[in-house]
Amino acid sequence: MRIAAILIAAGSGTRFGAGMPKQFLTLAGKPVIRHAAEALATHVSLLQPVGEAAPIDAALAGVAGLLPTVAGGATRQDSVRAGLDALIPFAPDIVLVHDAARPVIPAGTIQALTAALRESPGAIPGAPVADTLKRAERGIVTETVPRAGLFRAQTPQAFRFDVLLGAHRSGLTGATDDASLLEAAGLTVAIVPGSDDNIKLTYPDDLIRLERIMTMPPTPRVGTGFDVHKFEAGRPLVLCGVRVPHDQGLAGHSDADVGIHALCDAIYGALAEGDIGRHFPPSEATWKDADSARFLVHAAGRIAARGGRLANADVTLICERPKITPHAPAMIARLAELLGVDAGRISVKATTTERLGFTGRGEGIAAQAVVSVLIPEQLSSENAGS
Ligand code: CTP
Ligand code: MG
Repeated sequence: MRIAAILIAAGSGTRFGAGMPKQFLTLAGKPVIRHAAEALATHVSLLQPVGEAAPIDAALAGVAGLLPTVAGGATRQDSVRAGLDALIPFAPDIVLVHDAARPVIPAGTIQALTAALRESPGAIPGAPVADTLKRAERGIVTETVPRAGLFRAQTPQAFRFDVLLGAHRSGLTGATDDASLLEAAGLTVAIVPGSDDNIKLTYPDDLIRLERIMTMPPTPRVGTGFDVHKFEAGRPLVLCGVRVPHDQGLAGHSDADVGIHALCDAIYGALAEGDIGRHFPPSEATWKDADSARFLVHAAGRIAARGGRLANADVTLICERPKITPHAPAMIARLAELLGVDAGRISVKATTTERLGFTGRGEGIAAQAVVSVLIPEQLSSENAGS
């Protein structure tokens, strides 16, 4: 499925009133439009900017999937149309239309939109209206407007490409968003949850609110994991993703990598997302003899999905034999690779239990792990970490 995005940036930002169009202002160290582009780029293979080429190209240099900028039009609708026309040769299945003035695309928004397109030709994020609504004339309230069923329409808005192109070709004018063109044609537009963090930079105060959201320090979270597997003859011994020469391996449903299992549980624990058994039930035959590396890649993916990153992980293997220390550098390198982090964030060490207990008697290996992850607490955004 080919997904394209149109990033419209041809507006002049008259309400904001800066010396330049608001989408080129710096926010949390980057141009506003670049935040929007980076959030889209992780989900689409084609990114079509619309507006004045020179400032857009300067702001977006190096963003993945970037197509040559095309000029916009007098209205937002004209600008979207220019982007659609430029995408025709690529024949995308889905197109997302996004305002360059919206630097935050909350996490999960794009997945929800594309999922909704299976049922409907269009889908938009909508934030429910919390305040009581009034109509007023010359400073006097004339009416209270029932807010039930009212939503604030945000972007990105998602469409089946040919449907949106058809809607734009229908000759309707005056649309302030793209969904309204489908609505006018009697086509279904689904609503997925919008967010108050998805602010459209319009007035100077919005820049202050966005700066506050985007520079908020992440919250450190800690998780612990513990696991035990008993020795079994005739199986390979895999510890922290590394094959360790030994006269016996560990018994277990998967490859019984006790170190990775403890580490996964520590990560799921830090995220408060259950444990390894919840994500990979031992009752499922799929995980029999499975390489535990895939469990750890999944756990790392959960950190990423929450917009977070791993600060550090510390794994302790508990056994009398084999000797772990000679293999520790290889284990550290492998775990770092699977987690997609610097080796300096990972520690693997070992201890014996002075020949006491089941590990002391050589009946099996135990492992414990502690991790610290940094998760943006209030803003869960596609942008985080990029
Ligand atoms: N936009 C566009 N072409 C236009 C008008 C608007 O591409 N002719 C884009 C803007 O750049 C922005 C988005 O549409 O990313 C939403 O528009 P709006 O917030 O109204 O931005 P501006 O038109 O720039 O602001 P203002 O209305 O205050 O002038
Ligand atoms: Mg405008």
